Amino acid sequence: MTATEHVAIDAPASLEELWMPFTANKAFKQSPRLLGASHGMYYTSTDGRSILDGCAGLWCVNAGHGREPIVRAIAETAANLDFAPAFQMGHPLSFQLATEVAKLMPGDIDHVFFVNSGSEAVDSALKIVLAYWRARGQPQRVRFVGRQRGYHGVGFGGISVGGIAPNKAAFEAQLLPHVDHLPHTHGINENFHTRGQPAHGAHLADELEAIVAARGAETIAAVIVEPVAGSTGVLVPPVGYLERLRAICDRHGIVLIFDEVITGFGRLGAPFGAQKFGVMPDMMTVAKGLTNGAVPMGAVGVRHAIYETIVNATAAGIEFFHGYTYSGHPLASAAGLATLKLYRDEGLFERANDLAPYWEDAVHSLRGLPHVIDIRNIGLMAGIELEARDGKPGARGLDALIACFNAGLLVRVTADIVALSPPLIIEKGQVDHLVETLGGVLKALE
Ligand SMILES: Cc1ncc(COP(=O)(O)O)c(C=O)c1O
Repeated sequence: MTATEHVAIDAPASLEELWMPFTANKAFKQSPRLLGASHGMYYTSTDGRSILDGCAGLWCVNAGHGREPIVRAIAETAANLDFAPAFQMGHPLSFQLATEVAKLMPGDIDHVFFVNSGSEAVDSALKIVLAYWRARGQPQRVRFVGRQRGYHGVGFGGISVGGIAPNKAAFEAQLLPHVDHLPHTHGINENFHTRGQPAHGAHLADELEAIVAARGAETIAAVIVEPVAGSTGVLVPPVGYLERLRAICDRHGIVLIFDEVITGFGRLGAPFGAQKFGVMPDMMTVAKGLTNGAVPMGAVGVRHAIYETIVNATAAGIEFFHGYTYSGHPLASAAGLATLKLYRDEGLFERANDLAPYWEDAVHSLRGLPHVIDIRNIGLMAGIELEARDGKPGARGLDALIACFNAGLLVRVTADIVALSPPLIIEKGQVDHLVETLGGVLKALE
């Protein structure tokens, strides 16, 4: 069998024992949606239907599914070097991957710390920042600034700096103590149905000055934002907003972290949001597209001076007491190397950039359909916001997701926002099909 032949895995005998993440377990198990194979732009459901992937799995399969060079790299590495310890030992692949990732990251972000997910990347980044300020002799810089509607994974650090109430509700008693939040940039009336970056809202970055005034710059370690907030429904930064955030951080010596777990690896038609928007962060968190989703992996990229400051603060011995058993795992590193080569060989970031105007026209053609209150897009991502049902936020969104799945289209839904982010290999005809299918679903939706 070649790597690209795909045989759908059978449905399991029991659904009961698995506790599913971020899922309405009881409802799902009564009416499951199971994917049994993936190839190119499509999944195959366990009942044998072809499902167009409108969200790159979960924003991660940027090169499309089942790509042969990635499959081969994983298989060969599993046979040759299944595992190598990462503490006080190394293996070539993680070093090679760090070199490639550093080449892709902007400016002097030239050191890379490997982890296994976006959540671990964020919590690692927050720890790196604290270690950095301590090494620089400013240990009182402990405060983090996140943003409302930010998603930074599910670690305690990530949910603390994140701005999603339900993700924190059960854990409020034990969140990180010194965290403030900027306002999100969404909901400005003039910005509805914007193509690309909205014109209004750069001033919202000035809230950082207010936080600095209230807390004192000398207490603030870092600001963390997603260049485009993905998980809360594709919130594109207003023109000038990120630039202003950067300028305020510079004025007060605050580290700026871009969480590029979704915006990285071509999603915006550039390697990262940093290049797309021309704004240079001090640190970046990535995951997902790093390995095309094929093996779990994340990373933190840091500017030269941050790495140097931390490692030079210790005369001898371990400089940073942090890491994971699977940091830079051989299979993940091999998948990452093959993925980055595939992105390069096929020019997928440029492809996404070229296709973006077509994508924009296509998604905005849904304007005026029932329930649609806003459409926004950038690169190869889009958010279609639906009006919530009275007293039942999220119900219409979930119905849309289920109806799309039944109609052969996989979308991601956050509350009542349909998020689209197809693999970067999507063809124009598939864009048309995606939009037609979603349009048909919206017309039929209660
Ligand atoms: C911006 C951002 N940060 C962090 C995460 C967490 O990543 P993971 O689910 O791999 O832990 C995500 C996941 O969607 C994300 O979008």
